[in-house]
Amino acid sequence: MSSKITVLNHGPLQVEAGAQVCDAAGKIFTSTEGKPIFLCRCGQSANKPFCDGAHRKAEFKSEVAAS
Ligand code: FES
Repeated sequence: MSSKITVLNHGPLQVEAGAQVCDAAGKIFTSTEGKPIFLCRCGQSANKPFCDGAHRKAEFKSEVAAS
């Protein structure tokens, strides 16, 4: 299985549907069947590892591009 993760500008990581998000022990938080999920990369979410939209209030700025 190959899953795509997209780094969204000024926001979270978008994990393509079909992936599993697990904790360090391998326990599954959730699977992404049917819809993508969003992982926080700003550090401000109250629901880590998931994005809760707090990056907007925090005015998180990060724009990256693959080279
Ligand atoms: S990226 Fe959305 S809350 Fe951190």
